[in-house]
Amino acid sequence: MEIKPLLLSFFFCFILLLLDASKAQMPGFVSFDCGGKENFTDEIGLEWTSDIKLMYGETAGISVANETRRQYQTLRHFPADSRKYCYTLNVVSRSRYLLRATFLYGNFDNNNVYPKFDISLEATYWSTIVISDASTVEVRELIFLALSPTISVCLSNATTGQPFISTLELRQFNGSIYYTDFEELYYLSVSARINFGADSEAPVRYPDDPFDRIWESDSLKRANYLVDVAAGTEKVSTRKPIYVNSKEVPPQKVMQTAVEGTNGSLTYRLNLDGFPGFGWAVTYFAEIEDLGPDETRKFRLVLPGYTDLSKAVVNIEENAQGKYRLYEPGFTNLSLPFVLSFRFGKTSDSIRGPLLNAMEINRYLEKNDGSLDGVSIAKIVSYYSSSDWAQEGGDPCLPVPWSWVQCNSDPQPKIVKITLSGKNLTGNIPSDFAKLTGLVELWLDNNSLSGPIPDFTGCVDLKIIHLENNQLTGELPSSLMNLPNLRELYVQNNMLSGTMPSGLLNKNLILNYSGNINLREGRKSGSHMNIIIGLSVGAGVLLIATIVSCLFMSKGKKRYFEQDQLDHSPPVQRLVSSKSEVHTEAAYCFTFSEIEDSTRKFEKKIGSGGFGVVYYGKLKDGKEIAVKVLTSNSFQGKREFSNEVTLLSRIHHRNLVQFLGYCQEGERCMLVYEFMHNGTLKEHLYGHKSINWFKRLLIAEDAAKGIEYLHTGCVPAIIHRDLKSSNILLDKHMRAKVSDFGLSKLAVDGASHVSSVVRGTVGYLDPEYYISQQLTDKSDVYSFGVILLQLISGHEAISNESFGVNCRNIVQWAKLHIESGDIQGIIDPSLHEEFDIQSIWKIAEKGSDVCPTSRMHTRPSISEVLKEIQDAITIERVAAVAAREGNSDVSRTSIHSSLNQGSMDSGGTDNCLSFDESIARPAAR
Ligand SMILES: *[C@@H]1O[C@H](CO)[C@@H](O)[C@H](O)[C@H]1NC(C)=O
Ligand SMILES: *[C@@H]1O[C@H](CO)[C@@H](O)[C@H](O)[C@H]1NC(C)=O
Ligand SMILES: *[C@@H]1O[C@H](CO)[C@@H](O)[C@H](O)[C@H]1NC(C)=O
Ligand SMILES: *[C@@H]1O[C@H](CO)[C@@H](O)[C@H](O)[C@H]1NC(C)=O
Ligand SMILES: *[C@@H]1O[C@H](CO)[C@@H](O)[C@H](O)[C@H]1NC(C)=O
Ligand SMILES: *[C@@H]1O[C@H](CO)[C@@H](O)[C@H](O)[C@H]1NC(C)=O
Ligand SMILES: *[C@@H]1O[C@H](CO)[C@@H](O)[C@H](O)[C@H]1NC(C)=O
Repeated sequence: MEIKPLLLSFFFCFILLLLDASKAQMPGFVSFDCGGKENFTDEIGLEWTSDIKLMYGETAGISVANETRRQYQTLRHFPADSRKYCYTLNVVSRSRYLLRATFLYGNFDNNNVYPKFDISLEATYWSTIVISDASTVEVRELIFLALSPTISVCLSNATTGQPFISTLELRQFNGSIYYTDFEELYYLSVSARINFGADSEAPVRYPDDPFDRIWESDSLKRANYLVDVAAGTEKVSTRKPIYVNSKEVPPQKVMQTAVEGTNGSLTYRLNLDGFPGFGWAVTYFAEIEDLGPDETRKFRLVLPGYTDLSKAVVNIEENAQGKYRLYEPGFTNLSLPFVLSFRFGKTSDSIRGPLLNAMEINRYLEKNDGSLDGVSIAKIVSYYSSSDWAQEGGDPCLPVPWSWVQCNSDPQPKIVKITLSGKNLTGNIPSDFAKLTGLVELWLDNNSLSGPIPDFTGCVDLKIIHLENNQLTGELPSSLMNLPNLRELYVQNNMLSGTMPSGLLNKNLILNYSGNINLREGRKSGSHMNIIIGLSVGAGVLLIATIVSCLFMSKGKKRYFEQDQLDHSPPVQRLVSSKSEVHTEAAYCFTFSEIEDSTRKFEKKIGSGGFGVVYYGKLKDGKEIAVKVLTSNSFQGKREFSNEVTLLSRIHHRNLVQFLGYCQEGERCMLVYEFMHNGTLKEHLYGHKSINWFKRLLIAEDAAKGIEYLHTGCVPAIIHRDLKSSNILLDKHMRAKVSDFGLSKLAVDGASHVSSVVRGTVGYLDPEYYISQQLTDKSDVYSFGVILLQLISGHEAISNESFGVNCRNIVQWAKLHIESGDIQGIIDPSLHEEFDIQSIWKIAEKGSDVCPTSRMHTRPSISEVLKEIQDAITIERVAAVAAREGNSDVSRTSIHSSLNQGSMDSGGTDNCLSFDESIARPAAR
């Protein structure tokens, strides 16, 4: 069965499918068999692809008499709801395409209510599909210039029945075919493409037309299609080749047939779908009769009401500069009626009547630019590309908005409401939300969003913000105060810290910020903090003096502390807008049943260490936690334990694993921490998941910052005492945080720095500390140096196999290599040479155990090590930029040649042994 109503060819499909165009048999061909289960090649050689990957809609099989084409045995249909359902197709930007959608109803729903619905391309309404016959294929075609790498074709606005689609086809054009001056602003909706003098009712298409346009036969019987044909109209045809390679390149087969007005006229009348409107109309002529030497063929077009147009005389042979050659006159912008009558009449001096081979009429369809927020929302959606809500496709607002979006009714709409509550969102809140400048309501509650709250200053209409029940950290931005229309702000049950901006508390605002254990109400002055601490000490809680309380230190290193100020507000849940001062100086106390529920009775063990076993848990609000059940029984009494953990809870730094609270039940003491998704550095170093050198540097930097805070941001300083690769934890973004700080202290008698038991882990333990039992922050630096060596080499600290004979220890092994100048010998092969050797030298020299046997007082501080790591990061960044700029070979070479020079220079400036000194004293260790 042919595609009958080709004249009015239009339309087709929708919903979100990322269609892969790459495999079609013709480059630039995509043919979707909607609802089909398998790919297949049809009898004319078109490769049809199943749309099985589409997430929406259901498939149905149909059977229509005399319709044997396989693509018309199935279709895909969609719910008759208020949504739109889109297919997204890959295209080549700046290329012109023919887009074809076809619809064969076939009574798929056994309903016989003929469906009526809309089809759109991107934000532009394309056509309304009206089914009026269960066994006729409705066709819609559109010619467009692709301006982006994908297009979305959407079905929406079901008026009756269910929207459905049978095929969706994309055909790429060549060269300047269908170029118009208006193509960036208008699509061309195909209204008529007629092959005159056709030898059958079958259309001409691929392979006769390499672009698979469908040239409808003029002998097709259809209402109001080519009626009022003049008497004396005859078919003529030829088998000779026709030269067609110009302009629209109509297929030769179409040009080989024509109609001739033997009595002097050709007349036709037809309905033009989509008109009245402005259109693009061309006629295709080629002289395919052998006229005698005296014979002429000259004629004019006569359009009622267009007297000017009738002046031009067509003389095909002359215009085409020969027989069997294409002449293609036309109008690039012509106002046309719905019912078009036209006549070609021979001139009085012409012997032969007019000849017509083909014609084509397309309507200009003005493009809708779509929502002003299209770019920003597309970015947001791209971060969540695997979520089903992100698959809706097309424009966020037009022709109908996505299910989770509301838009205003401007011609170029803006998004006014986003509802993404409970959608499993993770990661930071994309800052692109803040670019939706028309936003009035934002609902992102009950997800797993982390990181800071972005700056919504640009969204001046924001009225209602729901961010509750996430894992947001950082401070409440004071920019929220400046939102003139803000009426409701919900941020409860996050991990926000810092102080409530006072402007927010004073505002006429419904505000809930409870359940943020580190968020306090008012900014306290430094003296106030001191008073509280003084009081505590005075109250006789002895341990407080020795255990650590972290003070905000104003001088030096300030940048590491600004987000981590001392938090005096009680980490208990509070209802926010009641401003009652329910301060208690206690860490948040979880009940045992809370812990039991969240860990499902300690079901999943995720680690164990010197202080106990760690279990995974998930709080009711979705927050993931790690519960450490302490094995130590050295905590003397309830009160002491809770005092200690209270102090622990005051240690906040973004590179320290966050302490959330504790639980004490009988003899059992538990500490609750934030859950770190990527486990320990140890697993990544000698597991199968290798991380590149640059990421390793970032991890080293993070860890060093955390340690620096313990050493310098807390008074008295906290010495970790058990730094090792299994105590460096990695979050979702592979950023590192130090864990288990403060525990050694907590677990031993804290009165003196001379501990009765040396704690630490073999391989990481500072030998000097071991001998002297004198604990200083330099012991941590030693252990950290071991970790740096592990980052370079990917080896464990102690191993019987890795380091050759007579050497079990990474420090000795690395030293041997470094001293002999063989740094390559210690580099982890899984780094694949993807590094700048200079940055490895930096780390090897400083952090590595360059200093382990040096005396403690000459060992660098963690801050110096941190600076070295940051220098190494800079080196890698510069190298990466150079590589990106295409001179990678050059820069690698020059870096290598400057390498030794550089490392020697820097060697002399620190407290560690420099490279040349090491060589000079080879056997010193
Ligand atoms: C059909 O073809 C597409 C693209 O050519 C391909 O991605 C898909 O895997 C194929 N499906 C089947 C069932 O072969
Ligand atoms: C199907 O084809 C047969 C023979 O070609 C014809 O007689 C019949 O009318 C056709 N049926 C329909 C519904 O077009
Ligand atoms: C849907 O179609 C109806 C009738 O065809 C029309 O009135 C309405 O405006 C359309 N809605 C949209 C969003 O286009
Ligand atoms: C597209 O154009 C190139 C060169 O301009 C030509 O070689 C090729 O055959 C054309 N493709 C089609 C399908 O006509
Ligand atoms: C041809 O045209 C003449 C006048 O224009 C008319 O009288 C005659 O009937 C026409 N012939 C046919 C076959 O229609
Ligand atoms: C065509 O002409 C009309 C009237 O001159 C004009 O309004 C319109 O913008 C033109 N272009 C298109 C693509 O319709
Ligand atoms: C959220 O993710 C979990 C696990 O990935 C899944 O089981 C659950 O169905 C998701 N919920 C929603 C609303 O997508």
